[in-house]
Formats: sequence, structure tokens, C-alpha cells
Amino acid sequence: MNKVTIVGSLNVDTTLRIKRMPLPGETLAAEGKSSAAGGKGANQAVSAARSGAQTAFIGEVGKDNSGQMMLSEMKANGIDVAGIRENDQVGTGTASILLDENGQNSILIYGGANQQLSPADVEAAQDKITTADFVVAQFETPQAATLRAFQLAKENGVATILNPAPAQKIDPEVLKLTDLIIPNETESAELTGVIITDETSMLISAAKFAQMGVRNLIITVGAKGAFYCTQDGYNFIPAFKVNAVDTTAAGDTFIGALSSQLKPDMSNIEKALVYAQRASSLAVQKMGALPSIPTKEQILAAGQN
Ligand code: RIB
Ligand code: NA
Repeated sequence: MNKVTIVGSLNVDTTLRIKRMPLPGETLAAEGKSSAAGGKGANQAVSAARSGAQTAFIGEVGKDNSGQMMLSEMKANGIDVAGIRENDQVGTGTASILLDENGQNSILIYGGANQQLSPADVEAAQDKITTADFVVAQFETPQAATLRAFQLAKENGVATILNPAPAQKIDPEVLKLTDLIIPNETESAELTGVIITDETSMLISAAKFAQMGVRNLIITVGAKGAFYCTQDGYNFIPAFKVNAVDTTAAGDTFIGALSSQLKPDMSNIEKALVYAQRASSLAVQKMGALPSIPTKEQILAAGQN
């Protein structure tokens, strides 16, 4: 069983279901509204935990009702929350999600307490990093905190996974300490300048990432599938065909599930990737972020159909 430590965000998501996205200046009535736990970090942690990983979290919430809700969600999933700090100055992060009839979403984020996560917070919880198999980070918390986490990880021989989402400029030092990077096709293009069209463009992207110091790559291409490239080889694995109702947290489900199954030397990457694809194919068939993330039993059962 892998030990996975997530350094990342916790948000309360408010989802408005709409027929189509509003135009600039336009007012539309929503068909429905719901609220659920989310945030890329929290989603990835819950996905890892539901797939059986021993999971710990380093992050920050506000000292408010949303923060309490996020803490109890994490605990209910068996996640070690000792590394989650409660901030009495800044509120818990929130995401406002517009979800259209085709299951496509647009998301607005207020980072709140997530943006206060500091290198000192990471150091205070460093035993969660030095004893892990994988440390996983995204871009909804400051890169200075990620950098400190990855430094501690690499000093202790712990493998690091970076999900550069939402896309932003990466500190080159973070990349040098990243063992596996998992962007989607848009994020990959922003980081390398190479537009993803076919397998050749993915291989060129892998070479660009290798120049930046990252030797292992997975590019997720939505409903099409995912490409991996490691020292052992590369392949594009098509996704399972399903009817998506809400793609929120599909990528997070993939990353958490992958980190629960992957060997730190990444020798089983194709098998772990297929498992992760099955996990996200289940998540997109349910509403909400965290509530849609499947358990290992559900993922394995889906594999038998
Ligand atoms: O990746 C999905 C997540 O992005 C949502 O849960 C929302 O909180 C945003 O952070
Ligand atoms: Na979902």
C-alpha cells in the first residue's frame, strides 16, 4: 500500500447547473444549485485514500464552517489531517462552478486560506513528506510551499508528482525536483510551447520536459485518453467511453488513483494509468467533485464489466 502525501488546496465548490455558458453582460437563470467538497488537493487526496493509499494532507483552511466541513470530509475518508492548518485571518477557499448541459464546466476560484500555505507550514509537517512514497502537488497553493515540500522529498528519496493545474508559470527549481509531471494537453502546451495534436507532438513535449529536468510525463487528453513517457517507454492509452454528466475532478481522480497504484520507480506506469483512467471514467458519471470519486472496489468492479 502506497503512502501518499498531498500538498494542496481544499475548496468548497458551489455548482450552478445551466443550459449554456452566459455571454459577457448577459444574465441567465440557473436550473439548479448544489454545494460539495472540492479543491484539487482535496480531490486528489480523497481519490488516493479511496483507492487504498495511506494518505496525509498538508494544506490550509479558514477557521470557519467551510473549513470544518473540509476537515471532517478529509477525516471521514481516513486522511491524516495533522498537516492542515486552520487560519483565523483568511477564509476557506471556494470555487464557483458553471456546469452546462454537455457536462462541460467553467470554474472561478477564490484561493483564500490555500494561498497562505507557506514553506514554514510544510516544514512543520515534514514527517508526512519524509516518510511518504509519493508527494503530490498542484498549483492552487503557492509554489514556494511546493518547492519546500519537493526539496524535503528529494533529500529523503521520496518520489514527487506535479500536476501543473491551473496552468501558470513554473519555478524552474520546482521542475528540477519533479519526478513525474501530469499536465492536461492545454497545460502541457503552455509549459512547452508544443501544441498537442498527435503522438509526435507528445514525444516532442516529453523531450522538452526532460530538458527542464522532468524525466517522466503523463499528458491527459480529456475524453480521448492519456499519453505516458518514461525511461522504459511510451504509449497512448485511449480512455473508456462513458456518458459524462460532470467532468469536475476527473483529472484529480486520475492523479489520486494513479498515485495509489504506481510503484515509486514507475515500472508499472501503464497498469497504474489504466486503473486511474477507470477511476476517472466513473467520476465523470456522477455530479460533484469529491462525492463523485470512486473507491477501489468500485473501480475493480467496473473493470470486470
Ligand atoms: O479540479 C477540480 C477542482 O478545481 C474543483 O473541485 C474546484 O474546487 C477547483 O479547484
Ligand atoms: Na464528477
